Amino acid sequence: MTTSSNNSATALAHTNIALIKYWGKKNADLIIPYTGSLSLTLDQFYTKTQVSFDRQLEQDTLLINEQAVTDKSWQRVHDFLNLVRQQSGITENARVISDNHVPTAAGLASSASAFAALAAAASKASGMDLNERDLSRLARRGSGSACRSIYGGFVEWQRGSDDTDSYAVPIENPNLKDIRIVALTIETHQKPISSRQGMERSVTTSPYYPTWVKVVESDLKEIKSAISQNDFAKFGAISEFNAMRMHALTLSANPDFLYFNGMTLDAMNEVKRLRHAGVECYYTVDAGPNVKVICQTKNVDTIANTFSKILGPEKVTVAKPGPGIKYL
Ligand code: ADP
Ligand code: DP6
Ligand code: CO
Repeated sequence: MTTSSNNSATALAHTNIALIKYWGKKNADLIIPYTGSLSLTLDQFYTKTQVSFDRQLEQDTLLINEQAVTDKSWQRVHDFLNLVRQQSGITENARVISDNHVPTAAGLASSASAFAALAAAASKASGMDLNERDLSRLARRGSGSACRSIYGGFVEWQRGSDDTDSYAVPIENPNLKDIRIVALTIETHQKPISSRQGMERSVTTSPYYPTWVKVVESDLKEIKSAISQNDFAKFGAISEFNAMRMHALTLSANPDFLYFNGMTLDAMNEVKRLRHAGVECYYTVDAGPNVKVICQTKNVDTIANTFSKILGPEKVTVAKPGPGIKYL
């Protein structure tokens, strides 16, 4: 079956690592968060997605890394496409072909690059010509963190209060330019508790959740001032604290849960050891066991070599700030 080219579009989006984490929805249907968050888009991990609307299709189809997907992940994409159909007025089903250059559902933000790429490709294929802000709002409906992957570099998700004012914006002219992220892919299997389930349980059962909301306000202010003052030490320290505060919400949930494994703890200790030995670096961990080491160019080789010896070079990826959404 061929489709006319204007019903088909392909987009590429990079993942982002949150330095101030999004962890909790005020409105689960619209994906409005309790707090703002701040991330860095990474050049090494991305998703490429092609969407073709085709009246011959009896239902939406989804291929991820050449595998047909029919489970909950299909439902999530289908719900998202319904939103696009509603906004654009298109009625056809869609064929979605997606390739993740990032482990899927392992805590390396595949949902961020996936839904940013899907939002861009599906909206374009449906005939809508969205500006970046509206694209960020649309991507947010697929996965909260995806709203930040529309932009490159440092990005802030302004929490807003409804569908119209909850979107990401790029941090203009950041003075902190010399950042590298050494990603340690300790585990690439699917995590047992998705980000969606994990944050929902934290919001509803952790007694510390209200404190988290307050703390993020000040962490966000502080990290933005560190970025504008080119203060790497402050930037790294706030990132590390904020990550640990997020994971404390999982430990204090009921039932409690933990995304770390033994290797996560070992890697975090190694980061502290390096730091105390004068190699300045900090860590952050998303919803999964993988550790991201935050550093500057001058130390990146030492850090990457250290972890290559411990984990094997195939588990160590050096990432730079990456670009925003691209249409292919
Ligand atoms: P991650 O840490 O990888 O973001 P999440 O639990 O937030 O983990 O999201 C993982 C989910 O995102 C997957 O289970 C799947 O539903 C969805 N996803 C990941 N990659 C794709 C893709 N390329 N296309 C569509 N959906 C995807
Ligand atoms: C720990 O954006 O994956 O990575 O909105 O339910 O899809 P949904 O969740 P998701 O959560 C990301 C959680 C995090 C922190 C962050 O990226 O800000
Ligand atoms: Co995710």
